[in-house]
Amino acid sequence: MAFNPLKEKGIPIDKQVKNWDELSVEPYDKNEVHPYTRTRIILMNGIETEAVIFGHQFARHTDDYSLKQKLAQNRRIEQQQQKIVNWLTPADESTLEVTLGYEQVAVDLTAWLAKTEPDPNVKNALDFALFEDFDHLYRYSNLMGTINGADPAKIVGELTEIFPGRPTVLEHRHPFDSIRNHYNKDKADILTKLHVLTIVAGEQQTMNYYMNVGNRTDTFLGRSLYQEIAQVEEEHVSHYESLADPRETWFECLLMHEYLECYLYYGFLLEEPDERIKNVWQHNLDCEIEHLHLAAELLQQYEGRDAESLLPARFPTLTKFESNKDYVREILASQIQLTADGNMYKPVSELPSSSRYFEYQRMVNVEGSAPSQRVIEEHIDRHGQDYRLETEGPHPLEEYRVRETVSV
Ligand SMILES: [Fe+2]
Ligand SMILES: [Fe+2]
Ligand SMILES: [Fe+2]
Ligand SMILES: [Fe+2]
Repeated sequence: MAFNPLKEKGIPIDKQVKNWDELSVEPYDKNEVHPYTRTRIILMNGIETEAVIFGHQFARHTDDYSLKQKLAQNRRIEQQQQKIVNWLTPADESTLEVTLGYEQVAVDLTAWLAKTEPDPNVKNALDFALFEDFDHLYRYSNLMGTINGADPAKIVGELTEIFPGRPTVLEHRHPFDSIRNHYNKDKADILTKLHVLTIVAGEQQTMNYYMNVGNRTDTFLGRSLYQEIAQVEEEHVSHYESLADPRETWFECLLMHEYLECYLYYGFLLEEPDERIKNVWQHNLDCEIEHLHLAAELLQQYEGRDAESLLPARFPTLTKFESNKDYVREILASQIQLTADGNMYKPVSELPSSSRYFEYQRMVNVEGSAPSQRVIEEHIDRHGQDYRLETEGPHPLEEYRVRETVSV
C-alpha cells in the first residue's frame, strides 16, 4: 500500500510510442474472461478516453505553443493506451453482451466507491445513481431474453444480481435537477477527488458508448431502449461532474488525471488474475508514472506549486471490483422511491403534481410508458415472466416480487 508514484521511475515519454504490432493486441476469450477482468477493461477504456478528451480540452484553452506541444505528446500516448485497452474486447462479444458489462461496472464500481467514500454528499450521489444503473442491467438483460441472446447470468458471472432497481421510466428528470453541490478542492480528501474523477469517466464512457452503438441493435425495441437509457447516462454525467470543484486549475486537473491513472492501474494490477492482461496494467502503470512526473513539472513551471502539496505520500484505499450483493440489497429500500429536486433527494411522493419532475415525465413518457417498460412486457409475452437473477432470495421489496406483470 505504501506506493507513491511520485517517487517511482517510469518509462521515458519518447520510449512509450508503440508500433502497429505492439498495438495489435489479442482480444480476450469471451467464454473464459473473468467478469471483473471485463469490467476493468471497460473502466480503463473510459479512463484513457477521458485522458485524451481532457488533453484536447486543455490544449484548446491555452495559447502557449510549447505547452500545446507537451500536451500533444502526452495525448498521443494516452490514445495509444486507449486503443490497446479497448481492443482487448473481442468482436464476437455482441454490443448487448458488452453493454451488460458496462452496467455491471456501473453497479459494482459505484457500490465500492459509495462504501469507501468519506464525503457524505458524494456518497449520497453515488447511492442515488447506483440504483438507476442497477435497473438498466435488468432492462438490458430482459432485452437479451427477447432476442434469444446470451445468458446474462453467465456474463455477470452471478457476481451481480439482476432485478428491478429504481424503474428507468421514473429516472427522467428535469435537467435542473441533475446538478449537485461540489466538494471543496482545498478540504476534500484525496479519495473523494479520485472517486469523482473515476465515476465521471466511467459514466461518460457509458454515455458515449450508447450514443454510438445504440443504433447498431437490430430490433426496434432494442434501438429505443438504448435511446432511453443513453439519456439517463447523460443525466449521470451531469450529476457526477457537478460534484467536482470547478476552481481546480487546468494544471491541477492534469496532475489529478495522471495520478488517477497510476492509482487505478496499480490497484487493478494487484487484482488481475489474467497474467497477460496484468502485464498490460503493469506496462501502462509504468507509462503513467512518467506522465505524472511531467504533469508535476508543468504544475511547478506554470504555477510554482509542488505536486507533493496536492498528493499524499502513499495511495489511499485502492479501488477494486468485488461482489456487492449485500450492500445493494441493504440500501435499495431507502433509495428506490427517491428523485432529485434541485440539489436535494426526495421521495417522489413528496413532490406536488405541478412540480417540474412530473412535467418532464409527462413530456417524455407518453401515457406513462417508455421502452424500458415495453421490454419487460415483451419478455413476459414470450416467456411468461421477466428475466431476473436473484441469487440471494426474492426482491427485497414486496411490491417488486411479481414477475408476470410490469411493476412500477
Ligand atoms: Fe493513460
Ligand atoms: Fe446505466
Ligand atoms: Fe449510469
Ligand atoms: Fe496518462
